[in-house]
Amino acid sequence: MSDRFLVSGGARLSGEVAVGGAKNSVLKLMAAALLAEGTTRLTNSPEIADVPLMADVLRGLGAVVRIDHDTVEIDAPAEPKYHADFDAVKQFRASVCVLGPLMARCHRAVVALPGGDAIGSRPLDMHQAGLRALGAHSSIEHGCVVAEADTLVGAPVALEFPSVGATENILMAAVLADGVTTIDNAAREPEVVDLCVMLQQMGARIDGAGTSTLTVTGVDRLHPTTHRVVGDRIVGATWGIAAVMTRGDVTVHGVVPEHLQLVLNKLVDAGAQVDRFTDGFRVRQENRPVAVNVSTLPFPGFPTDLQPMAIGMAAIADGMSVITENVFEARFRFVEEMVRLGADARTDGHHAVVRGSERLSSAPVWCSDIRAGAGLVLAGLVADGVTEVHDVEHIDRGYPRFVENLRSLGGAIERVG
Ligand code: UD1
Repeated sequence: MSDRFLVSGGARLSGEVAVGGAKNSVLKLMAAALLAEGTTRLTNSPEIADVPLMADVLRGLGAVVRIDHDTVEIDAPAEPKYHADFDAVKQFRASVCVLGPLMARCHRAVVALPGGDAIGSRPLDMHQAGLRALGAHSSIEHGCVVAEADTLVGAPVALEFPSVGATENILMAAVLADGVTTIDNAAREPEVVDLCVMLQQMGARIDGAGTSTLTVTGVDRLHPTTHRVVGDRIVGATWGIAAVMTRGDVTVHGVVPEHLQLVLNKLVDAGAQVDRFTDGFRVRQENRPVAVNVSTLPFPGFPTDLQPMAIGMAAIADGMSVITENVFEARFRFVEEMVRLGADARTDGHHAVVRGSERLSSAPVWCSDIRAGAGLVLAGLVADGVTEVHDVEHIDRGYPRFVENLRSLGGAIERVG
């Protein structure tokens, strides 16, 4: 049986919390290390379960990987293997980001289709279309994405949707291609920018980082580098939303507040006082939060990864909130768990209508993915009694030292086996 959290409701969170590097950045940066023979060093890496899993994927490809707390060193081989097999990748979705680097280095890749979060269908058609534009053949064979090219040649690529993963894979394939690649409708997430910054440090020529058009001029080779992983805005915002829900006072360090502009504005709309500073922000909430509407969109829109926490906040807010999910269609599945906690929530297609209740009431609930898990814990913090959150291994994948951090802020939570 997997571990559970016992969360006792009622505490007001207060204090300071430091956030480490972003999960959605570090895993791609680890893959990008394959692009240059030699030792690339990442600092501010989060101590989450997905980092050692990614290390295993890279080891399977011939790299030597050392992890020491928040430092990860990847010694990439002269000739990486090109086959990431099912055993290595099945446990998590981000493993697919080795596709681009393998195409760049080996001109071929076989990457087993990963498992991952239960948040909806996650096809790879845009990843494949991008590689095809660069001259590769790509198909799905026996449960693997297979791609191959005699040589990769820069080309224009227009994404149908600003997919984070497709942008990153095409970018990593293009940095060593012949000639110029443009990626239109590219994702602008801070984690994509972080990848661009590291690739530039490695010698890649990339213009337009942080905009929706990336222009990549291929170079012959890249060199290893040392890079500090950007702070995890999703973890930071989780603590900010927790402060609002518990009417607390929480200061978050280690996150760039500009990466959370819209989210922090929503917290202000909900009644919070928010102070922003260079490496973080402080959120103070006195009264019951006011209902706010939220619509998830690619960056700089409201992150889909914070949608479960937004529903948690809506569940106890004064008034009715409409939460619209535009990125992952199945992400509302977790709303059923919120209903077990007494939330008055209904979903219809892309929309959830949530009428805020004065109180939630504890119940056993089950995490279906990382962010749903965090949303359920936040709801447990404001529910009467002790909420049992099951399958918390999901939370371990994205939140380092979750229990310790929450306790340090005054939250009553314990982990039981
Ligand atoms: C990344 C993040 C995830 C976040 C998401 C959106 C990582 C490890 N994960 O996931 O936490 O929620 O960005 O910000 O960084 N799609 C296609 N075809 C494709 C690729 C994507 O249809 O080839 C669709 C997906 O099904 C989804 C949407 O595009 O509906 C966005 O997906 P994408 O931005 O690619 O998310 P990920 O990179 O998988």
